[in-house]
Amino acid sequence: MIPNVIIERVTTPLGEMTLSQRAQDFSIRVAGVELMSSLNHRSEDELGKITCTPLASLRAPNILIGGLGLGYTLRAALDVLPKQARVEVAELVPEVVRWNRTVFGQLAGHPLTDPRVTVIEGDVGAVIAKASAHYDAIVLDVDNGPDGLGRHNDRLYKAAALAAARRALVDGGLYAVWSSFESPTFTKWLAGAGFTVELQKIKARGATHWIWMARAKPSP
Ligand SMILES: C[S@@+](CC[C@H](N)C(=O)[O-])C[C@H]1O[C@@H](n2cnc3c(N)ncnc32)[C@H](O)[C@@H]1O
Repeated sequence: MIPNVIIERVTTPLGEMTLSQRAQDFSIRVAGVELMSSLNHRSEDELGKITCTPLASLRAPNILIGGLGLGYTLRAALDVLPKQARVEVAELVPEVVRWNRTVFGQLAGHPLTDPRVTVIEGDVGAVIAKASAHYDAIVLDVDNGPDGLGRHNDRLYKAAALAAARRALVDGGLYAVWSSFESPTFTKWLAGAGFTVELQKIKARGATHWIWMARAKPSP
């Protein structure tokens, strides 16, 4: 049997993070719970694709993706976005950025080398809070979703953060949020923050994942 080898352990605001490898596959865990694995990335690919395909006809759309993980969502977004797109990727854990550059960048075709990409090492919530009517799309995949893993990110799913996301988007902009759980409460909060909400269900290797596609209603 091929062994699963822990390559690195780091202390992060989310808890202890480990990067492990089994043959050609990589997995990132936080406090022992899987955050992302190269064995199953169908819904992460879909997240980038369905959010960014409608932006393909814009000349120079602005996109924010948080966080980076193994880079699949970023890759899927880059594959459909135009040449002049600007894609900011906010990643909380500097080691994740380093691993993408040095350990497993090949998994998603080295997306950080694409000239359209700017990496921000920091909290995506802070990046959203600073922006005003700027992004055509914001893509959030930072943990397991509104009822998920990380207490560090709880506030990202609360009303104040959703209002900030609405402010950061242009009218009609898209806020796409990945989750491994359905959450009717989160759907309600998104609607209350000025979004028209559609929930997509994605089946991947026996698991069901969810993506909220929330479109910013025009400002009154
Ligand atoms: C589930 S992974 C993302 C998977 C990614 N969509 C992919 O295709 O591989 C979550 C990532 O978000 C990062 N993260 C967690 N909280 C964050 C935050 N508040 N701001 C920015 N990045 C964050 C984690 O370190 C991790 O790299």
